[in-house]
Amino acid sequence: MCGIIGYVGPGPAAPAIVGGLQRLDYRGYDSAGIVVLDRGRFRVEKMPGKLENLLARLKASPLAGTVGLGHTRWATHGGPTQRNAHPHVSGNARVAVVHNGIIENHEALRRRLRARGYAFRSETDTEVIAHLIEDMHRGNPLETVRRAIAKLEGSFAIGVLFRDRPDVLIGARLNSPLLVGFGEGANFLASDAPAVLPLTRRVAYLEDRELAELTPGGVRIVAADGTPREPRITHITWDYASAAREGYPHFMLKEIHEQPRALRDTIRGRTDHSIPHFPELEIEPAKLKRIRRVVITACGTAAHAGLVAKYAFEELARVPTEVVLASEFRYGDPVIGRDTLAVAVTQSGETMDTLCAIREARARGALTLAVCNVVGSSIPRAVDGTLYTHAGPEIGVASTKAYTTQIAVLELLAVRLGMLRGALTREAARPLLRALERVPDAVEKALRCEAGVRTIARRYRGARNFMYIGRRYNFPNAYEGALKLKELSYIHAEGYGAGEMKHGPLALVDNTFPTVAIATAGRVYEKMLSNMKEIEARGGILISIANPGDARVRELSRHVIEVPETPELVSPMVTAVPLQLLAYHIAVALRRDVDKPRNLAKAVTVE
Ligand code: G6P
Repeated sequence: MCGIIGYVGPGPAAPAIVGGLQRLDYRGYDSAGIVVLDRGRFRVEKMPGKLENLLARLKASPLAGTVGLGHTRWATHGGPTQRNAHPHVSGNARVAVVHNGIIENHEALRRRLRARGYAFRSETDTEVIAHLIEDMHRGNPLETVRRAIAKLEGSFAIGVLFRDRPDVLIGARLNSPLLVGFGEGANFLASDAPAVLPLTRRVAYLEDRELAELTPGGVRIVAADGTPREPRITHITWDYASAAREGYPHFMLKEIHEQPRALRDTIRGRTDHSIPHFPELEIEPAKLKRIRRVVITACGTAAHAGLVAKYAFEELARVPTEVVLASEFRYGDPVIGRDTLAVAVTQSGETMDTLCAIREARARGALTLAVCNVVGSSIPRAVDGTLYTHAGPEIGVASTKAYTTQIAVLELLAVRLGMLRGALTREAARPLLRALERVPDAVEKALRCEAGVRTIARRYRGARNFMYIGRRYNFPNAYEGALKLKELSYIHAEGYGAGEMKHGPLALVDNTFPTVAIATAGRVYEKMLSNMKEIEARGGILISIANPGDARVRELSRHVIEVPETPELVSPMVTAVPLQLLAYHIAVALRRDVDKPRNLAKAVTVE
């Protein structure tokens, strides 16, 4: 998830672009860059790190030119370095490109372009687009980009400048957002509305595969086949702060709703030909094949994703798997050897406990792997290989989309390990991968439970305690549901394996005590029902998460939240949605600071 801003008009482009970048940096801040076309030459400035670095640079050497593009990067392919920062200029400096998204066929395109004489200067997938467009350019920018994007697979929003057409800016999108802003004598291209709000309130969101040609005097929008489209102009009425949250009252709610997209971006391109495919993984399959044991280490929500993965690694890959809290790992004298795969799960890649734990594992000879959301952060730099979750920046302190995408990556890895170790045949892997591919749709449907969840939240906001129960793949979600409620609402909550209730916590149950029970389809469904009966028989209030039309759960429960039925393996990604929404709406009802709960921080870089 990166931010794009473009300007074409009568005045200087740079100030409008810089202003746009300042309002886009919530989309990523690994690096920032700008290109303008000044007297027939591209002038590019780009700097790694926060936008301030670029601003300091521009102060020292201001840019002229009346057409230009800006970019703020959230790295996916290639670390957050100056070389990988956008914009990218084509081999003969005839085209400049900024990009948000992931080009899945970049390797094949790179090979083809190399054969045509193009040298690559960065590790990004974006550079491929710049060379490709230059290679195909025959004089008409819109037509060139239209033909070029037909060759791209994956997701992209791009802004393109042509050296031979200083009055033209081209935009195009597929699966990544892009809009056109209509000004007075100037027009703009942007990833989203906050970037252009002070410049105009009239915008048109491009549809997938649409292209826009912007000149100072007008905007032309065409479909993939070149047919003209009428711009659908929207008048933005929100203020800038809510526009950054795309109209959502909190980043957390936006991030909960982004999960279908985040999961699609994370899973897409990794399920090719019935084999989980990790082109970026630097660990050779032979090394993975040799491992005899997995140790997962993480903190907070990421540790809960690790607990889900334990079930998948053991069931699918038949490899003994242990999950150790990173803060305990170092001091527990762990038994680690060369046959151990140590996996660090982390959204930020900066959590000190996790960093220390994975370093310790490496020092003791383990093969080390990170599952991480932030390219180039400290933990990926400390391990043998990294699998990235493509969730986009997570701003809300309480982790949501990072959690579900971590589960997706870890389950893909479990399938891969299973196949490498001979525990899973290709035939057996196929339905598992299909279930993973379908999970974004199931999560999208699960989001429809929100209105019902909000009503429940308002009713129980006064509760002093909550219990969360689940079993097997959904047992870690009991921990996660309880953690979300604690951190957001400051209500005491506990997560338990449902079968364990009778060994103690059942004593807490009375007719004022709410228990959230995850009772979706799976191997433990009947067992779960028995545990719920034990609670119901003692007058406890059951708020159940179940599949549509489940009369048996309904009979036992005071409230039922329905989510689509999926294979048990992928169900935690679906049942996480109502748990996140319940915590969110209780916190809102209690007027808590949802995005910044008291006493907490997004990335904990102290031990
Ligand atoms: C902090 C955050 C949690 C997060 C944990 C681990 O405590 O508030 O939401 O789960 O750190 O963070 P990581 O970035 O390593 O996933």
